[in-house]
Amino acid sequence: MTSFCILLSGRGSNMEALADAVRDGRLDARIDFVASDTADATGLERARERGIETVVLPYSSEGKKASEQRLSRLCSARGVEWIVLAGFMRILSSEFVMAHAGRIVNIHPSLLPSFPGRDGIGDAWRWGVAVTGVTIHLVDAGIDSGPILAQRAVEILPEDSLETLEEKIHAAEHALYWKTLSELFRTGVPAERRWRR
Ligand code: GRF
Repeated sequence: MTSFCILLSGRGSNMEALADAVRDGRLDARIDFVASDTADATGLERARERGIETVVLPYSSEGKKASEQRLSRLCSARGVEWIVLAGFMRILSSEFVMAHAGRIVNIHPSLLPSFPGRDGIGDAWRWGVAVTGVTIHLVDAGIDSGPILAQRAVEILPEDSLETLEEKIHAAEHALYWKTLSELFRTGVPAERRWRR
């Protein structure tokens, strides 16, 4: 069975949506562990409550290189095939990305290439766009720049607030991530998406 790990830094609602999909058999895969760069991420607590093993990467005490080495070692020792980012707020080094090329997936809360970076929802909101959304993509050495696997549009209606927009974006994320991973794990990266640009 396909095995993956999840990296997060925050509350972990996407991790929970993926864990639900695994539990219900919608996503035929196994979450080997959930890792974070910070020990106090709510998502780690939520993972532990679900009986998923958690790992704190030593970013604050030992830095990026040691943390990435630890993660690489864990993945290879346990045969983890995919690294799934779900609100992980660190930028992976190009060495790490190259070592796991085509095996790292990220979810971003905007229609990339619009609004990359830390606040994709707020940036779209402040810009005043009528449509934003969610992107799932492979990670390359840039920021939110890798080949796109799936996107969902979310309309910003006149009655929306930043809070209701955030809710709509997260609902779209939770519906799309497991489906995209399910297809990716079964069939690999769709060739037309990987090579179009
Ligand atoms: C999500 O909006 C995701 O797209 C972005 O970070 C947020 C994480 O939320 N990369 P959560 O921790 O999964 O609730």
